[in-house]
Amino acid sequence: YVTATNRNYIIDFNYIYLTSSTEQFAGVHLFISLQKTTQSPLVAAGLSCGLQRCFFSLIASISCSVKGLCTVTGPTVIDFRGQMNSVSDRCEYTLLQDQSTGLSLKANFMERRRRDVSFVDSVTLDFSQGDDIQLLQGHRVLVSSPVILSGSVQTFNGVGLSKDQTGVTANISLNGSPVSLFFDGTTAQIYMDVPVSYTFTGMCADSSSSSSSRLSSDSSCQQQYVDPADDTINITAVIEKCNILKSAPFSSCNIHVDPESYIIACTETLCKYPAVDGLRCQFLEAYAKALTHLFFSTDHPEPICQDKCSDHEFCGDIHGNTDCRCRAIYASEYTGQNRLGGPTVCKDNTASLTLVGCLLKENGIDYTHLHLNDKNCKGVMDPESHMLKFNFSSDSCGTDIMTKNSQVIFTNAVVTRNSSSDLISRQDKVFIEFSCSHPTPELQNGAFKIIDNWIMIFLESGEWHYSLTMKAYSDAAQTQLLGSNSDVRLNQKIWIVLETKRNEEVVSVVTDFCWATSGNSPSSSPRYDLITDGCANPADRTVHVMGNGQGTSNSFSFNMFEFSGKEPSEVYLHCQLQLCVKKNNSCERRRSLRYRRGAPALISMVWTP
Ligand SMILES: *[C@@H]1O[C@H](CO)[C@@H](O)[C@H](O)[C@H]1NC(C)=O
Ligand SMILES: *[C@@H]1O[C@H](CO)[C@@H](O)[C@H](O)[C@H]1NC(C)=O
Ligand SMILES: *[C@@H]1O[C@H](CO)[C@@H](O)[C@H](O)[C@H]1NC(C)=O
Ligand SMILES: *[C@@H]1O[C@H](CO)[C@@H](O)[C@H](O)[C@H]1NC(C)=O
Repeated sequence: YVTATNRNYIIDFNYIYLTSSTEQFAGVHLFISLQKTTQSPLVAAGLSCGLQRCFFSLIASISCSVKGLCTVTGPTVIDFRGQMNSVSDRCEYTLLQDQSTGLSLKANFMERRRRDVSFVDSVTLDFSQGDDIQLLQGHRVLVSSPVILSGSVQTFNGVGLSKDQTGVTANISLNGSPVSLFFDGTTAQIYMDVPVSYTFTGMCADSSSSSSSRLSSDSSCQQQYVDPADDTINITAVIEKCNILKSAPFSSCNIHVDPESYIIACTETLCKYPAVDGLRCQFLEAYAKALTHLFFSTDHPEPICQDKCSDHEFCGDIHGNTDCRCRAIYASEYTGQNRLGGPTVCKDNTASLTLVGCLLKENGIDYTHLHLNDKNCKGVMDPESHMLKFNFSSDSCGTDIMTKNSQVIFTNAVVTRNSSSDLISRQDKVFIEFSCSHPTPELQNGAFKIIDNWIMIFLESGEWHYSLTMKAYSDAAQTQLLGSNSDVRLNQKIWIVLETKRNEEVVSVVTDFCWATSGNSPSSSPRYDLITDGCANPADRTVHVMGNGQGTSNSFSFNMFEFSGKEPSEVYLHCQLQLCVKKNNSCERRRSLRYRRGAPALISMVWTP
């Protein structure tokens, strides 16, 4: 009978009869050792044949009995044959696909501190039916939703999942034979207790098959970057360190698992990428784990982040603490411009600025110490994305408002807490100013029928929206809205209210002119003035102007009239208005204090006889 560990065959026979053609055996390393055991006295007895059947063909056994160990560590895949290859992009790859069962093991690669070095980031067990099982960073497992694992085995979709302090193990049965998958966040290993059959494809079957094993159809993951070399790396020291695998205590194991690929993987990666974030021992551990079944048990846990890192983060070392760092490609969008977030988003009535949590941490900034001009306005940290969001409206959080070249500019700033009351401070000072600007409000012309009991026009000015309404009432208290069914008699007093819907009180409605025409064009004649230059027409004693320029609404009243003529005609009421940005809480129109003139707007209402 033949027992086999990885590439090491203990053959307990009197005679070994190998028949083969060289082609079939090409590339297969076969170690045959005859061991003296109590079960094989014949070996000790000098290999004399004592059994009835001494002939055995090893052709089938050799071609099929290469037991599987595939290691993926950092960017390197060491396949079942011990051949290595490295992934240099950030795509998803098939590690192992079994045509007969439809099972496929996939690995996704992502960058960390450098854009030009990828690391295995997650591993997925894809069954042709049922939910995928994903092994993620931080020893987290997803089976359509997060799964809480303990030391004991839990079964999902026929897969035994368990977790210890070193990582997560998934045990699968493949055609009745056990396969186990281990992932600790930096290294994935697949052990097969079955002979690796030729029906397997993927990078673990053949590491050189990287282009046919790439799954991602999106080509953006294939983009290559070149980052400047890290001059803190001492190449001599890296080579010395990686070659430890050839010396004691590993040397005694070299016959069981060839260390060469692990040494190359170690050297290639650490000559480029700094030995930080728990990477120092990663390759040694991967090798040791490869031997675990034989000799060692490693219990050196990988660094685990307290928080779940978001997609643009990885778990690494920040100033001596284990925490979520920014991935290099993501961070380069900001660090290239020396920014911590942004840009400012101006929308509706609010402006917001989003700062990147991992960049703040890497810059030694504690986000809880940040606020806007008003220290009560703090940022909101999103627990999933780790983004810190500040928002303000034009009348909150100490926002400064100024007008400049027909722009209204709202400005605020993110600053560090004034720490004069604190005994000590570990914070750098932060000052990030951000602002939104929009053109001074401007309204367009609109003519409407009285059938609408009130009229409204919308102003869109950049991202800032204003609406302006004009309503007619039959009472001073403005409770009786005049609609299409209301009869307005001649000389009846009516009240016109002009109002803008804004929550904040930074703008005021100023009515400059109101006049009536019998034609629908505001410039038609005859024309009758009700308000001129902000004041009631002194010739018409019935006109009263109220609250002009004082707030978001003003009103005026007059007595209804009609144009003299043979036929009763329609009465069009036109008002030319401005929205004015309040200063010192007032826009009130006085001769001595003129407000800045913006573009005027026209709003009209019509009465049909
Ligand atoms: C997984 O399989 C291996 C090998 O068959 C076994 O040693 C180990 O105990 C199993 N672990 C779990 C969690 O089932
Ligand atoms: C690099 O490492 C080697 C071996 O550890 C050491 O002898 C050498 O001084 C180091 N070189 C530098 C520049 O630190
Ligand atoms: C900021 O936005 C949140 C909701 O996203 C809201 O509850 C809060 O009132 C806003 N703060 C300001 C100052 O606008
Ligand atoms: C603003 O108001 C304050 C007090 O009401 C007054 O002292 C100050 O002169 C005003 N400033 C301007 C520019 O009108």
